[in-house]
Amino acid sequence: MKKRFCLIYVLALTVVYMPGCKKRAPKEPEITPEVKKEAIPMSANEEPFGQTPDGRQVVLYTLTNPSGLTARITNYGAILVSLEVPDRTGRLDDITLGFDSLDGYIKVHPYFGATVGRYANRIGKAQFTLDGVLYKLAANNDENHLHGGTKGFDKAVWKPVECQADSQKTWVKMSYISEDDEEGYPGNIACTVTYTLTKDNELKISYEAETDKTTILNLTNHSYFNLAGQGTGDILDHELMLNADKYTPVDEGLIPTGEIRNVTGSPMDFTSSMSIGSRIKQVEGGYDHNYVLNSGGGALALCAEVYEPSSGRVMTIHTTEPGVQLYTGNFLDGTLTGKSGRVYNKHYGFCLETQHFPDSPNKPDFPTVVLLPGQKFTSETVHKFSTR
Ligand code: GLA
Repeated sequence: MKKRFCLIYVLALTVVYMPGCKKRAPKEPEITPEVKKEAIPMSANEEPFGQTPDGRQVVLYTLTNPSGLTARITNYGAILVSLEVPDRTGRLDDITLGFDSLDGYIKVHPYFGATVGRYANRIGKAQFTLDGVLYKLAANNDENHLHGGTKGFDKAVWKPVECQADSQKTWVKMSYISEDDEEGYPGNIACTVTYTLTKDNELKISYEAETDKTTILNLTNHSYFNLAGQGTGDILDHELMLNADKYTPVDEGLIPTGEIRNVTGSPMDFTSSMSIGSRIKQVEGGYDHNYVLNSGGGALALCAEVYEPSSGRVMTIHTTEPGVQLYTGNFLDGTLTGKSGRVYNKHYGFCLETQHFPDSPNKPDFPTVVLLPGQKFTSETVHKFSTR
């Protein structure tokens, strides 16, 4: 109890107003890209983004770097709302799927841009045993548990902690306290997520967490990317390289069987760059699989590189996580209308969800997701943008 109080108190102390975060500035006049480079410093702005049905005010943060790369993040679900990235001619397009306003995120949607927790991905039969105690979770994906349950981290209002810019980077940090037994998970978890945009065109997403009772934790960001511009078409022409020789095969419920299989000679092989669509028809339902990264996790290491030929945009991902879920928007079916009135059809976005492996709490041979009191959980994923 004392520990729990201490954890919450320390977090509450860090929750201050947002120094350095400016209220939205008036629109810049049109200037050439060369002049723009000199003229725009790293900047961070905030503006209102609406109100939740229970009356909580939600904010939208805008981080911009000198190349014009712009990330918008809301503290509702710590969601990445948009990401404007230059193409090979310097033209900016929003390359993530999502909604123009808070309403879209409050309705049911497939985790567009969301921070997913406490457990990103699936837990088989929605249960696990820890220290001899059986924990039952919501079965929100047939008989299995998916992405933290019915009210996961993606539906929490996160507390703004800081929003700042210096000469090298601009960032927004937010925190969330997930209470003991929330969605059936043990322990109070104090968690932060920080989105940092650097002057070198990197978007870093880093997480920190602590618990007061032995628990499990697996966090990811669930952005859907289309490097040609959101809502402009499918992602089947994107060329993907994954730094993974192995993956975790799944059963019909998309729960890993426990086997770690080599990708060689199969449509799962992205060890050298291949278009996502080249073999997708050979994969039942499309790609929705966890790859075992060659790095093994721990230190920040290469995870993936994606190239989109028409725009020339390249996204390179490094992560400290041991796995990544390649999901090719298989369940998008045209029923959702997103930003700028664009309709999201099948395969209109791909996700590369850096993570620990699905169902790890029930797979003793997979890297552990157990978090102990006194341990500090950290995880970082860096998306670097360039053109070719
Ligand atoms: C994850 C899962 C998919 C799907 C999406 C959300 O990526 O692996 O099966 O549930 O989230 O629609």
